[in-house]
Amino acid sequence: MLVTVSALSPAPDACTAAVRNSINWGTATSAYQVEGGWDADGKSPSIWDTLAQSPGKIADNTTGDVACDMYNRWAEDIALMKQLGVKNYRLSVAWTRIIPAGVAGSAVNMAGVNWYRNLIKALLAAGIRPAVTMYHWDLPQVLQDEYGGFLSPKIQEDFLYYADTLFKHLGDIVDQWMTFNEVISICELGYQVDVFAPQANKGLGAKYTCGHNVLLAHAKTMQLYRTKYAAQKGRVSIALDGKWGYPKDPNNPADVAAAENFMVFQYAWMADPLYFGDYPAVMKETQGALLPKFTAEESKLLRATTIDFFSVNFYCGYYVWAPAPGSPKELTYDVGANTGGQFISPGIPSNAPWLFKTPDGLRLTLQWLAKRYNGPEFWITENGVSGPDEDWKPLPAVLDDVYRQDYYKTYLDNLCLAKSVDGVNVGNYYAWSWMDNFEWRDGFKKRFGIIYIDLKNNLARHPKGTAKWLSQHFFNINPVAPATLRAASVARQTPAAAAAVPKPAAAPSTVAVSSKGKGFSLPFSFALNKGSGFGLSVKFGPQGK
Ligand code: BGC
Repeated sequence: MLVTVSALSPAPDACTAAVRNSINWGTATSAYQVEGGWDADGKSPSIWDTLAQSPGKIADNTTGDVACDMYNRWAEDIALMKQLGVKNYRLSVAWTRIIPAGVAGSAVNMAGVNWYRNLIKALLAAGIRPAVTMYHWDLPQVLQDEYGGFLSPKIQEDFLYYADTLFKHLGDIVDQWMTFNEVISICELGYQVDVFAPQANKGLGAKYTCGHNVLLAHAKTMQLYRTKYAAQKGRVSIALDGKWGYPKDPNNPADVAAAENFMVFQYAWMADPLYFGDYPAVMKETQGALLPKFTAEESKLLRATTIDFFSVNFYCGYYVWAPAPGSPKELTYDVGANTGGQFISPGIPSNAPWLFKTPDGLRLTLQWLAKRYNGPEFWITENGVSGPDEDWKPLPAVLDDVYRQDYYKTYLDNLCLAKSVDGVNVGNYYAWSWMDNFEWRDGFKKRFGIIYIDLKNNLARHPKGTAKWLSQHFFNINPVAPATLRAASVARQTPAAAAAVPKPAAAPSTVAVSSKGKGFSLPFSFALNKGSGFGLSVKFGPQGK
């Protein structure tokens, strides 16, 4: 369909052809948000199946049962990516398709494995290089039921078995991995409070315990890859999230210090252990017994398995100010506390209460991280925005997403400045998201896609103006797909092997959908929910959602 984009604006000034050519451009999705096929071919339920299928939990009463139906329509999606010149695609694998019973040593579901093999081989054949996230929030429900998911160290062994299975069955065609997506989202929103699945709501200590288990599961995965799978010669990282902290009053040293701590409590909480083998000093000093400790051996393992590139998901920044005198010490620098639990930002609001247009926040974040971690290679593995009014505007007007085009133009300008002026080593960039999809508790009410999904018309796909703009200035600029090697290795496989999809295995009887049926409550109440008319869009503190 013809897009009624008024006129595509030029590429951002700082994104000269030379800079654009030096970055691998792409787009991203995650399994639960796009696939559907929630119980197809032996898949077991994940904690998000459970949450979304519980009445009243999702803003528009949608679920991920069908989502964008990518499970059945992947060929069409890949063809559209190819048409737009996309050459890099970040996707995630659903653990529940691969190991339905969740636990280490249990059966591998080859129907699930082969679905991903076919998808990835088709991507490679289209000249699109995959980057695969192992865990984008869809924990097997059975592991949550058995031992509380990420609150138990048992998760480390089960995750390692899952990672081993992925390396074994997909490692010949995937050479770029991320273990986990957004530890703050997993641990703060899912375990500290009850915004995301599994809605544990167990307080700040639970967030830190969860993060500790994530870090150790990640480090063990890195070690496994560098030993058992060294011959695959791929690269592994973990996608970290955070918001930039603008000191509310840049002339007030207390606000400046608070903004610094705001960054430390987000990024350095994870990245200091990954680079230096321990949590940041300010966290250890203020969080007391809530923050777990690494043994000498764990610390050594972390230092020995530093990530191969630094993966950052970046959306926006908030004002940060000094905590009120007398605030409880362990909460003093908790991510929420320094923003007063509110989303106040110098940026232009979007239709999501947590998301503002703060383009220089991306450059400032990269500068901060590059300095602290001595200039690693950065990948922006998510960046994007939900478009105002896209949940109701009719076609084709809805495709004219001027707001989003401006978001990308200004953020990419800053990304290019970070590379060309500040010397930050930016390797890859992925726009979030390839298509409108199941936006967690907001369902389809918040649309982040560069492709519009028509919910009223069989989930038809329509490129928005941003897709055309990115295609023209970014996706299409690299003439040679960087995936040639892997594509060649795929081509060497026999067509029969590639096409063979074994009959689905029966789902194990131990796996059942459990409905926790809890209501949700938010630690901070404020009415910034502009879009959905559903009292939930506020996630928690500055992490939003
Ligand atoms: C998540 C995505 C989500 C996006 C927009 C990111 O934090 O990784 O799954 O859709 O934010 O909210």
